[in-house]
Amino acid sequence: MDVRTLSSSPFHDQRPGTSGLRKKVSVFQQPRYLENFVQAIFATLSDYQGGTLVLGGDGRYYNREAIQIILKMAAANGVGRVLVGQNGILSTPAASCVIRKHQAFGGIILSASHNPGGPEGDFGVKYNVSNGGPAPEKVTEAIYRRSGEIKSYRILNAADIPLDRRGQHTMGGMAVDVIDPVADYAQLMEALFDFDRIHALFNSGLFHMRFDAMHAVTGPYATAILEDRLGALPGTVMRGTPLEDFGGGHPDPNLTYADELVAIMNRPSAPDFGAASDGDGDRNMILGSHFFVTPSDSLAILAANATLVPGYIDGLAGVARSMPTSAAVDRVAAKLGIPCFETPTGWKYFGNLMDAGKVTLCGEESFGTGSNHVREKDGLWAVLFWLNILAVRRESVEEIVRQHWAIYGRNFYSRHDYEGVDGAAAQKLMDDLRARLPGLTGERFGNYSVTTADDFSYTDPVDHGVSSGQGLRVLFKDGARIIFRLSGTGTEGATLRLYVERYARERAEHQHETQAALAELLAIAERIAGIRQRTGRDAPTVIT
Ligand code: G1P
Ligand code: ZN
Repeated sequence: MDVRTLSSSPFHDQRPGTSGLRKKVSVFQQPRYLENFVQAIFATLSDYQGGTLVLGGDGRYYNREAIQIILKMAAANGVGRVLVGQNGILSTPAASCVIRKHQAFGGIILSASHNPGGPEGDFGVKYNVSNGGPAPEKVTEAIYRRSGEIKSYRILNAADIPLDRRGQHTMGGMAVDVIDPVADYAQLMEALFDFDRIHALFNSGLFHMRFDAMHAVTGPYATAILEDRLGALPGTVMRGTPLEDFGGGHPDPNLTYADELVAIMNRPSAPDFGAASDGDGDRNMILGSHFFVTPSDSLAILAANATLVPGYIDGLAGVARSMPTSAAVDRVAAKLGIPCFETPTGWKYFGNLMDAGKVTLCGEESFGTGSNHVREKDGLWAVLFWLNILAVRRESVEEIVRQHWAIYGRNFYSRHDYEGVDGAAAQKLMDDLRARLPGLTGERFGNYSVTTADDFSYTDPVDHGVSSGQGLRVLFKDGARIIFRLSGTGTEGATLRLYVERYARERAEHQHETQAALAELLAIAERIAGIRQRTGRDAPTVIT
């Protein structure tokens, strides 16, 4: 074995954010940049020698090159076996599934999720642990510390592994299995959902759907499962071929970036059901004919209907949502008599709760929904969950949502993003607001009086770890809230996120348009934080 130890020196910007290390492709392409981070991962791990590692990504630009480098470094660092997706492809939830199923010690996922790709776009590296979920904060912080001390990295001098065909190879003393990226995942989906019933729904000829894979990783998964296995018409999956630059698009399934699908779903003869997933397949957007389901409502509806689905027929142990996610699911949990946990933003906080058996379903307002079947959010899983519910209830998406509101009330909810604003100005806005929070309690703004104003801090109920500084909250009487957070996934300037929520019990109110229903709260947010003046922006970049 020709293992080389090459000298290196630290880059000091390798602290993982909300979801792994994300940087511009050009940053990752600097000599030693990727190598340093990967060596820092291995340096942090213990007892992995001879064990199995899962490796794959969302297929974005630089995926293939990065995979060859990581394979050679894994061989040089004593990994026993690597399971790598064919063509370097593994969706994030599929990687989680493969880690769990094959008892790997962990996985390296190459993705910048919904961020644009291509030579000018973003790249990312995320380490997942043996439960299949993102490394917890203590691990990502340890990786960061190591990256700051690095003096050398280890790499095998070997030929590249051909990734375009499935097969088994060896690299130095390490086995490399190029696996079907879809098979294990599809099998898991079949175990959870009533495929026969969904097949019958498609077969009825009365039900049509469109799935927008946004030229990202879910294309092969959705085609295999929806069209080939469940009998959806050919062409149901649109933009189904993964492209290195996502066709120049922004692979984020929301009303702004999935506009082609949204237009189809708003046509006079729209399909009954529309869905989209993001760059790495963990996000989902759910649409009915002429109807948008907010991710927070979607989570609540899945929870309320879970026992209609074979995998969840025995009910839910509990549910969890990130702090800025609307409290719609809290109302379902209260009715079901199960616990509901409120965690900081980011999927990594759900892992402990799922491992401890405290929650079955979890979700985030940012188009992320999932369950304990894996330890990542899962876009296609959410779509299949909806399909299963639709196949049983045989009602429209809109009918199901409106009935849900009639029973539980409606949580009007919206997120306003100010993307790429000046970093210092955004930080100042947050710092000044944080300083004002103590004085806000008890203050009255029009119809709303403040009950609590704080900087959200979370104590993990399982390992008792404390995560503070997780978002500024202004909570009002009757469940209304305004939250301010800075994004931890962007790569350019800062992104300010403003989350606004109001609860409406009365059915007569449910018809209102969301932005109109939240107008007063949005004005209060502006008054409290002075977003326009401080960012120089008249309006948000994206409203969801
Ligand atoms: C965003 C979302 C968050 C999600 C993360 C990864 O993080 O807000 O809910 O977990 O992407 O998909 P943010 O940019 O807000 O830090
Ligand atoms: Zn993603």
